[in-house]
Amino acid sequence: MSRLLRIGVLASGSGTNLQAIIDRCQDGSLEAEIAIVITNNPGAGALERADKAGIPTLCINHRDFSQREDFDHAVVKALQETRVDLVVLAGFMRIITQTFIDAFPERVINIHPALLPAFPGMHVQQQAIDYGARFSGCTVHMVDGGVDTGPVIIQAVVPILPDDTADTLAARILEQEHKIYPRAIQLIAQGRVQVKGRQVTIASNRPAEPTALTNPATDD
Ligand code: GRF
Repeated sequence: MSRLLRIGVLASGSGTNLQAIIDRCQDGSLEAEIAIVITNNPGAGALERADKAGIPTLCINHRDFSQREDFDHAVVKALQETRVDLVVLAGFMRIITQTFIDAFPERVINIHPALLPAFPGMHVQQQAIDYGARFSGCTVHMVDGGVDTGPVIIQAVVPILPDDTADTLAARILEQEHKIYPRAIQLIAQGRVQVKGRQVTIASNRPAEPTALTNPATDD
């Protein structure tokens, strides 16, 4: 068997995406091992999930650093010492600096709960509802120097329904996040992902069916 991809997961919150990745590693559908979980938040639920799965954890509290760069250096050092191949941001609520990206070129990925380039940043489920969008979704992308601007690897689309609140929409999106994030990592583990500028090509990938989605549905 070939070597498992060593990943470092960075999480600040409850860690449901981390859990989805743990589960897929455990059931063997993801040929990766989580070498470390790092958080900036001592209260992150992600720590408990990692502990339960026997994964080493590290808390590097950003409040202990006066400069963003110094915090990033500390995180990069820990990831390098752990010899990770890929850095997975899973609800990591810190903007990372160029130092970080230079240390792991094309080796940092993120998941965002909207269909980028629409609605980058924070509170994006509410923004999509307020805008009156009919669809939203989630995006796994490479991390570059901007906020939610890197090349797109996978997206999943969900409808926005008339009674949606930010919470109900977030839950519908999260369900898809838990599917596409492990899938994106598996594609990278298999060496099938190539980035050229903004274009990400996936070797022998079955593209989406060329069918349009409409919301409201047209055939009612
Ligand atoms: C997810 O919605 C993710 O897209 C965003 O932060 C949230 C993290 O959720 N970046 P969890 O901690 O994985 O449950």
